[in-house]
Amino acid sequence: MQYRHAPAADRSALDAVLASAPGRPTLPVRLTVELLGRAREHLASRGAGNPGPVTVWDPCCGAGVSLTVLGLLCPGIATLAGTDADPAPLDLARRNLALLAPGGPAARASELDDLATRHGKESYADAAAAARELVPRSRPQWMVAPADAHDRAATRAALAGIAPDVVLADLPHGRQTSWAGATAAPATPAAPGDAGGDVGSGPHGSPARGRGSGTDGPAPGPPPEIAFLRAVAGVLAPQAVVVAVGRGRSVPLPPGVRALEKLRVGHRAAVLVRAGALTGR
Ligand SMILES: C[S@@+](CC[C@H](N)C(=O)[O-])C[C@H]1O[C@@H](n2cnc3c(N)ncnc32)[C@H](O)[C@@H]1O
Repeated sequence: MQYRHAPAADRSALDAVLASAPGRPTLPVRLTVELLGRAREHLASRGAGNPGPVTVWDPCCGAGVSLTVLGLLCPGIATLAGTDADPAPLDLARRNLALLAPGGPAARASELDDLATRHGKESYADAAAAARELVPRSRPQWMVAPADAHDRAATRAALAGIAPDVVLADLPHGRQTSWAGATAAPATPAAPGDAGGDVGSGPHGSPARGRGSGTDGPAPGPPPEIAFLRAVAGVLAPQAVVVAVGRGRSVPLPPGVRALEKLRVGHRAAVLVRAGALTGR
């Protein structure tokens, strides 16, 4: 993939400042910035010219690293919203997103200075110096809240009226993080005609069931990514752009849905898709 929106740069200082949750790998900084740039191109192609400030939602936000990177490095972000099925990493997300407030980098630098003194570690002092250099490119409003991305009612409640223009999701994968919620357990079909059902339906209305759900019975249903994409798109405006990043050759899409773009970056694959294409609107 050719980077068009994120020049190569050494971001190791930024990595040292951001708190990450153990076992929850984060997207590379450069890829995060590039994906937002591409999503904004697609927003602009649908609207008139350059879109205004954007609202970005990470429905698998973990420690909020991707959201914080966007606020620190990308101008023109009005609101950042983070939700995750697991409430455990959300305090870290709040800490990271606090870097975007006036005085946030200085407060983080003081914490890191204290750690440097207490543990005699030079790496903390280096991180403190890096924190002091941070000047966020955006000063967005932000929120984080627990919500299973498959549960549209819970997601709508968590977003509390926020209307995302872009979704950026680093999908759970493999041994490090796994799917929680509807795709992790046997799913129950949505009621007929329930476009806002909490559980994503597979093609032809079959219940979506995750790979490796551990249930007995018939062959596994569609991959969990499909139920996730449908559920997330179900709370978005049709023109919103959903960006999902997974491991492997590609991120699966529901049958018949065309991507705006498909990308490969090392061992990752990304897909950009219009919300309306996922919901048939
Ligand atoms: C690869 S990590 C994301 C890291 C995050 N983007 C960051 O910047 O720190 C994947 C996350 O997906 C979350 N997750 C798993 N199943 C979920 C679900 N059904 N709904 C929402 N989040 C889920 C996990 O709890 C985990 O935090």
